Amino acid sequence: MAATTTHASPVPASQPVYAFQAPVRLYHWVNAACIFTLAATGYLIAHPLPTVMGEASDHFIMGRIRLVHFTAGYLLAVSLAGRIYWALVGNQVSRQIFYLPVWRGSWWCGLGEEIAFYLFLRKEPPTESGHAPLAQVAMLLFNTLGTLFMIFTGFALYGEGLGHGSWADRAFGWVVPLFGDAERVNNWHLLGMWILLCFVIIHIYMAVRADIVGRTTSLSSIVGGWRSPKGR
Ligand code: HEM
Repeated sequence: MAATTTHASPVPASQPVYAFQAPVRLYHWVNAACIFTLAATGYLIAHPLPTVMGEASDHFIMGRIRLVHFTAGYLLAVSLAGRIYWALVGNQVSRQIFYLPVWRGSWWCGLGEEIAFYLFLRKEPPTESGHAPLAQVAMLLFNTLGTLFMIFTGFALYGEGLGHGSWADRAFGWVVPLFGDAERVNNWHLLGMWILLCFVIIHIYMAVRADIVGRTTSLSSIVGGWRSPKGR
């Protein structure tokens, strides 16, 4: 299947292109489910539930919440590793959340046009078939680097729990002195959650907006893969 994606696409504006390949779509939804689960369980770890009546071993509620958090954490890391692999072998769009083509003049033009559009200085919406330049910046900063930050700080905290010399401590223990101590890592991990959640809200708003105002089938494209660059 054709995979078209560059800013100045030769494909006529209204012709759909196969932008998001199946592994990209799978990663998107696994990632979304993991972030939702991690944010919900993480919030409960930060604000534990009030004590429940009865024997703690009959409930073990916080233990189960932490188990779900760690399981989703592993899944998040494995899914990102798979996504990095797909960026190496997949189409051009699959690479867009990992780098910014700052050496390309057309990318800067697209970024300028897009900012002008959102500032109501330009009527025409962006005509990108993959991620528009502004989305690319946001995806790289908040999704890719943000998720990596949560994985590194999360597994560093996990290593604290598993103990000195554990695999997580050996692989991620160096993160703790980088921040000062485990308490600070914990605080940054919590702050990371709120930043990621802000990104998620803006991301959903922009996707719905691009679909309705920009007429780019952005919502159905992350389910079926096909995207109309502009105007159905
Ligand atoms: C989007 C990703 C993630 C979010 C939103 C998230 C959120 C949170 C939050 C809010 C807390 C509570 C912080 C506090 O007590 O102040 C927490 C704790 C923790 N997280 Fe995450 N987390 C994420 C990824 C991960 C990953 C990948 C791991 C790796 C296994 C992980 C492991 C931990 C550990 C070990 C703790 C401390 C648990 C405890 O003290 O009982 N997290 N997380």
